Amino acid sequence: MICCHGRLFLLLAVAASGAGAAPAAAPGPSGSSHVELDIMESLLPAAGASSSCPTSQELKHGIPAVGTRMPLVHRHGPCSPLADTERRRPSHTDILAADQRRVEHIHRRVFHTTTTTGPRRHRRKLMSTASALPTLSGNGRGTSNYLVTIGLGVPAACVTVALDTGSDTTWVQCNPCVDYCYPQDEPLFTPAKSSTYTNISCTSSYCSDLSYSSSSYCNRGGLCIYQIEYGDDGDGGRSFTVGYYAHDTLTLANDSFREFRFGCGEKNSGLFGHVSGVMGLGRGNTSLAMQAYYGMNGSVFAYCLPGKDSDTGFMVFGPPGSIDASLDETPMLTGDGPTFYYVRLTGIKVGGHLLPIPASVFSAAGALIDSGTTITRLPPSAYAPLRSAFAAGMARLGYRETSGFYSLDTCYNLTGLKGKVALPAVSLVFQGGASLDVHGSGILYVPDVSQACLAFQPNEDDADVAIVGSMQQKSYIVLYDIGRKVVGFANVGVGC
Ligand SMILES: *[C@@H]1O[C@H](CO)[C@@H](O)[C@H](O)[C@H]1NC(C)=O
Ligand SMILES: *[C@@H]1O[C@H](CO)[C@@H](O)[C@H](O)[C@H]1NC(C)=O
Ligand SMILES: *[C@@H]1O[C@H](CO)[C@@H](O)[C@H](O)[C@H]1NC(C)=O
Ligand SMILES: *[C@@H]1O[C@H](CO)[C@@H](O)[C@H](O)[C@H]1NC(C)=O
Ligand SMILES: *[C@@H]1O[C@H](CO)[C@@H](O)[C@H](O)[C@H]1NC(C)=O
Repeated sequence: MICCHGRLFLLLAVAASGAGAAPAAAPGPSGSSHVELDIMESLLPAAGASSSCPTSQELKHGIPAVGTRMPLVHRHGPCSPLADTERRRPSHTDILAADQRRVEHIHRRVFHTTTTTGPRRHRRKLMSTASALPTLSGNGRGTSNYLVTIGLGVPAACVTVALDTGSDTTWVQCNPCVDYCYPQDEPLFTPAKSSTYTNISCTSSYCSDLSYSSSSYCNRGGLCIYQIEYGDDGDGGRSFTVGYYAHDTLTLANDSFREFRFGCGEKNSGLFGHVSGVMGLGRGNTSLAMQAYYGMNGSVFAYCLPGKDSDTGFMVFGPPGSIDASLDETPMLTGDGPTFYYVRLTGIKVGGHLLPIPASVFSAAGALIDSGTTITRLPPSAYAPLRSAFAAGMARLGYRETSGFYSLDTCYNLTGLKGKVALPAVSLVFQGGASLDVHGSGILYVPDVSQACLAFQPNEDDADVAIVGSMQQKSYIVLYDIGRKVVGFANVGVGC
C-alpha cells in the first residue's frame, strides 16, 4: 500500500514580491568561501510551486535501495497533504515564536534530565519555569514542519504525521474522540476498522516502556493509557494527548510491520496544525526509531529535508547501508540524556575560516540535532563571533544590513536582486571533523526579500544546550545510525 498524496494544491502564485529588474549586485563565483542562494526559492510560501509531487516510487536521487523510503514534504509547501490555505498559513512571527517555545521546552527538558548544570543556570531556570514543567517529551505548538504519510492498520488508513526527532512516542488522533480532538484534515484513525489493532495491557512491558518518556496508567479495564504533556502552548493553554497505548500494523511505503506501538489519542488538545499526529523518532524505547532498531532490522533512519519548501524530500528506514552516499560522521552521544540526538559541536567556519571560539563554549552545555527546531541555536559566546564574521562577509559582498526581524538580528534588504546571490559560506564542525557546510537555502531565513536574516540565534545563556535546527539541515541527508551510534551528513546539493 502506498500512501500517496492524492491532493495537489495549487498555490496562488504569490506575486513575485519586490524582485525588480536590477541585476544581482552580489558578485561572486561560489567556492568554499561562498555559497549561492536563490532568492525566490527561499521565500515561504514557495514561489516556484512544483506542478506535481512525486510518489514513493518516483523519487529520484538513487541513493537508498535497501531501505524503506517515503516522501517527506514541508507542511506549508505545495506537496503538503494538508489543505494549507493562505488563511491558515502562519505568519513568520508565528513560526519564529513557535520555534522559540519549542526551544524553551527542549531547554527545560534537558535541564531536568541532566546533572551537569552550573549554579547560575540552576537558579535562573528554577525561578522562571520550575512549577509548570513535567519532564515529559514532546514539543510545543508548531511541531516539526516536515510531514510523512504512513499507513496504519489493516486495511491501511493513510495518516499524515509530523516528523519529530525530539520526542519518543508516536501518536495519532483516534475515533472515537472521547472528549475532544483538535481539527485535522484527514479522517480520524478508527481502530474498530482495523483487523490488527490491539490495545496494550498495563501489565505488558510495552506499557512500562512509556515511563521513560511520557506517563502511563491503568484504566479500570486493565488497559495501558499513555499521556503526553507538552510545554505551554503559548496561549495559556496546555497541549497534551491521552489515550490507549496500542499496537497495529504500520505501513511505510511498500513495507508493513506488525505490532507497531503507538498512542491512540482520544483526548487531544493543542495546536498541532491539522496533522493527524506525531511520529516520535527519539532515542526512547517507544519511538519508531527504536522499535525499528529492536524489531524490524532497521538500525538506521535518515531524512533529506528539501532545500526548497516546494520540493519533496524523503525519509528512509532500513539496515546499515540503506544510504549509499558518502557521509561525514560524528558520534551520537547517548550518555548526554534521553530522547534527543546529542552531538559534539566543535567549531564554526565563516567564509572557510574557523572562528576563534574556545572549545569550552561548545562543551559547556553540549548540542543536539533536531528535526523540529527551525533556527539553529548557539551559545551566545559562539553566536556573537558568527554574527560579526557573517556581517563582515556580507559587507564585503556589498550587502547593506537592515533592521532585525522578530528574533533574528542580522538581516539584509535584498530588494531588487534576482536569481542567485552569493553569501559567505557557513559551516558547523562536529567532533571527528564532520562538517555541515550549510546550503545557501539554510543560511538566510527570508520572511520577505526586503528582510533576509541570518538563520541562527543565540541561546539566552551559554549553559543552554545548542540545537542544530532544520534550516541548517536542508539539502542534506541526515542519517541516524542507532546501531553504530553515529550521526552522518551527506550533502545532496540542490534537491533530495
Ligand atoms: C480497546 O479498548 C477500548 C476501550 O475499552 C474498546 O472500546 C475497544 O473495543 C478495544 N479494542 C480492541 C480491539 O480490543
Ligand atoms: C512498491 O510497489 C510497487 C508496486 O508493487 C513497485 O512498483 C515499486 O517499485 C515499489 N516501491 C518501492 C520503493 O519498493
Ligand atoms: C529498551 O529496550 C531494550 C530491548 O528490549 C532493552 O535492552 C533496554 O534496556 C530498554 N531501555 C530502556 C531505557 O528501557
Ligand atoms: C532481519 O534480517 C534477518 C537477516 O538478514 C532476516 O532473516 C529477517 O527476516 C529480517 N527480519 C525482518 C523483520 O525483516
Ligand atoms: C529595501 O530596499 C528598497 C530598494 O532599495 C527600498 O525601496 C525599501 O524601502 C527597502 N526596504 C527596507 C525594509 O529597508
